[in-house]
Amino acid sequence: MVALDTAVSMNPWSPERHRAVCAAGVCDSESALVAHADASLMGFIVMSCIADEGEIRNLAVAPARWRRGIGRSLVFAALSRMAARGVNRCYLEVRASNWRAQNLYTAVGFQLSGERRDYYATPEGREDALLMALNIQDYIRREQ
Ligand SMILES: CC(C)(COP(=O)(O)OP(=O)(O)OC[C@H]1O[C@@H](n2cnc3c(N)ncnc32)[C@H](O)[C@@H]1OP(=O)(O)O)[C@@H](O)C(=O)NCCC(=O)NCCS
Repeated sequence: MVALDTAVSMNPWSPERHRAVCAAGVCDSESALVAHADASLMGFIVMSCIADEGEIRNLAVAPARWRRGIGRSLVFAALSRMAARGVNRCYLEVRASNWRAQNLYTAVGFQLSGERRDYYATPEGREDALLMALNIQDYIRREQ
């Protein structure tokens, strides 16, 4: 997960941050799901659930596997688990320049709910974070 995160993210998490998530159990507030083929990691998603609010905190798919539905499947699996825990609304933050991820989240049904100016560092300076939100019950109804 560390290698994949480092390969695809502009601000990858530290090994310690990943280790803490992987040590968590399914009932903990923060947990990860992975997509794999045999021993090969294809992608992962990290989510958190606190009371009736959920958050997608990290998501990555191996570039060689992009555009095969793995990202969407990971988001679906995370949202299904949130729904099972009684979460009503899921939030996330995404870089303003990250159009691939924005396309994925919009395709799933997330809507823009706000922005944080100059939130992320980039090699050229700062960039905004877009805040997106989804009503999980509506999403589950649509997918059934
Ligand atoms: C964003 C990311 C997770 C998408 O994963 P993926 O497995 O390629 O996504 P999927 O194949 O499930 O695509 C689902 C939808 O997202 C959109 N999408 C994904 N990649 C796209 C691209 N390159 N161009 C246009 N739309 C894209 C499309 O709507 C797509 O549906 P479609 O294929 O039916 O048109 C992947 O590109 C990635 O790991 N990027 C780097 C890390 C990252 O940005 N993480 C998100 C942090 S917020």
